[in-house]
Formats: sequence, structure tokens, C-alpha cells
Amino acid sequence: MSSATPILEARHLVKHYPVAQGWFKPKAIARALDGVSFSLEPGRTLAVVGESGCGKSTLARQVTMIEHPTEGELWIGGSNIAHADRAALKQVRPLVQMVFQNPYASLNPRKKIGAMLEEPLEINTALNKSERRDRAQAMMARVGLRPEHHGRYPHMFSGGQRQRVAIARALMLDPKVIVADEPVSALDVSIQAQVLNLLMDLQQASGVSYLFISHNLAVIEHIADEVLVMYLGKAVEHGSKQQVFARPLHPYTRALFASTPRIDPAQRQQKIMLRGELPSPLAPPPGCAFNTRCPYAVERCRQEVPAYREFDGRKVACHRVEEID
Ligand SMILES: Nc1ncnc2c1ncn2[C@@H]1O[C@H](COP(=O)(O)OP(=O)(O)OP(=O)(O)O)[C@@H](O)[C@H]1O
Ligand SMILES: [Mg+2]
Repeated sequence: MSSATPILEARHLVKHYPVAQGWFKPKAIARALDGVSFSLEPGRTLAVVGESGCGKSTLARQVTMIEHPTEGELWIGGSNIAHADRAALKQVRPLVQMVFQNPYASLNPRKKIGAMLEEPLEINTALNKSERRDRAQAMMARVGLRPEHHGRYPHMFSGGQRQRVAIARALMLDPKVIVADEPVSALDVSIQAQVLNLLMDLQQASGVSYLFISHNLAVIEHIADEVLVMYLGKAVEHGSKQQVFARPLHPYTRALFASTPRIDPAQRQQKIMLRGELPSPLAPPPGCAFNTRCPYAVERCRQEVPAYREFDGRKVACHRVEEID
């Protein structure tokens, strides 16, 4: 990891949701995000991985300012927006844009592509109609759409083309960060690589950073610079793609990476099966949240929350990482 000034930094970011338990019962707390820290530098891609329910989309909703975090700091473009007021958020919002998983649901079916691309300019800039149209046309060309697509509706496009439209729309205000939540998993496998390559080309040209959520390790290997592994609302490991793929350290990362077959047998990890169910975020286990499923857990792991600390040039949260490495 290099040492440029981060464009995005989360410090102990927490998001708790109150959950109704039924009449007369007190509300329970879902610890969807339970103290996550990381930073993302300009022009880099950080992939976020972890099982369903570990808090990836919750993280995305904080970073895109759709929700307010419960605690912690969230620095975007030099200001802490965790508890910013509406006026401050209005300034920062254009810096972060989102691309969703499902390009069928995320585009308004009644709007033409051109109008969809021009809308953010209409709201956020003083450009006139013909200038907006020029910008939209130029962006369409950058994402591989043709000029005549300007007047067409979303239903006239394939899934891959729709995702190009969604990416174009996200880029219209020249954001610093794009949060992409499973952006290719709804697409045909044959189309996935094209969209990933497009994202990488656009990053090269614009210097935008990606917070890229995916459960597909092949996709992550293709696009990521760094990998952040989450478990039950916490970060358990964060390192360069090379480090994490070649030698995952946290027992959870090892289990996650071992459950995906690798083509090169020399790179296959010693197999650790994930035992048992993912605990509920309403009642995470004390100590290390992974202790109930970890083959290396000892008494200390059941008592004491492990520090998230530097080890071997990356961050890892495991009491026993030195012994089991
Ligand atoms: N609004 C909410 N109210 C209550 N609980 C919530 C809310 N949103 C999310 N959760 C809970 O927070 C946890 C994290 O959810 P989140 O959607 O962030 O997971 P995820 O990692 O994105 O999962 P997936 O891979 O399935 O998309 C889950 O246990 C979920 O049930
Ligand atoms: Mg999700």
C-alpha cells in the first residue's frame, strides 16, 4: 500500500440498526457495521469481500451518504462527513457515486438514456442544454455506447449495455470515488470481463477510486489493488491483492479463499472448512467474532477482542496470527 493522501478514510465506523422483536419486547440491535477502519487512495481499487450479511452493503450506504453512521469518522475529500449537516453533505455528495448490482432495476424505465445522463448536470451544474447534451454524448462514447443510444430507453439495451449506462451516469459529475456493489454479478460471464476492463480503463483515464464489493474472487483478482475482508461487521484482514491471494493470514480469509478452487495447484491453500453457521449480528460472539468457527480458537479468542494490527505488511485482527502463519 502506498502513502498518498487518501480520498476516503473510515475510522472505527459503526452502523447499528434497531430491530423490533415483537410487542412489549425491547428493540434488539443489529451490529451491521461494528468498527471498521480503512483508507482508499486516489486511483486505487479496494475490493470488499465477506459472506452474505457481513456488512458490505451497509458500508456502501455509509460511504455513499445514503445513511448516517452511528459512530466513527468518515473522511471524504478532506472532511469528516459522519455527522455533517445537509449543507455540508450537499457539497460532498457529488464526490461519491454508486453503481448497483442490478442494471435492470437501477435505471428508470421511463427515462431516455440521454436524459438520465444529463440529469445530474442539470441539478449540479450551470451548463446549458446543448452543453449537457455534448457532455452526455462524450461520456457515452467513453463507455462504448453509440450516439444514437442517446434517445433510447433502458429496455432496448442488454444487461451489459445497461451497466455501461449506469457507469456513465455515475461518472457524469467527475466523482473521486465510485462504490460498486456487485456490479457484474448479474451479467453473463462473457460480458463480465468487458465491463471490468471498461471500469479499469475509465480509472486509468480519470483517476477515480473504486470501493468494489464482490463475493467473486476471480472478479476481485482481475480488478483489485487491495482486498478488505469483513466478518460480522468487522474488518479482519486488509492487504494488497498479491499478499491476500498468495498468503491469506486470518483464518477466516484462509477459509474464504480455500472454498474457491484455484486453477494453479501450487497456489491452492490448505483447506479449512467453515464450520457452523454465521452468528447473528444481533448477538455476535464475545472475543473474536470468528471464534465459534475458527479451527485455531483458544480461550483467549473467546474472551478478548483481537486488535486490528500491522502484521507482515498488512492489517490483520487475529490473536494467533504469529503462531499459525
Ligand atoms: N435496515 C436494516 N435494519 C436491520 N438490520 C439490517 C438493516 N440493513 C442491514 N441489516 C443487517 O445488517 C447485516 C449486514 O447487512 P448487509 O446488507 O450490509 O450485508 P452484505 O454483506 O451486503 O450481504 P450480501 O452479501 O447478502 O449483500 C445483516 O445481518 C442485515 O440483516
Ligand atoms: Mg449486500
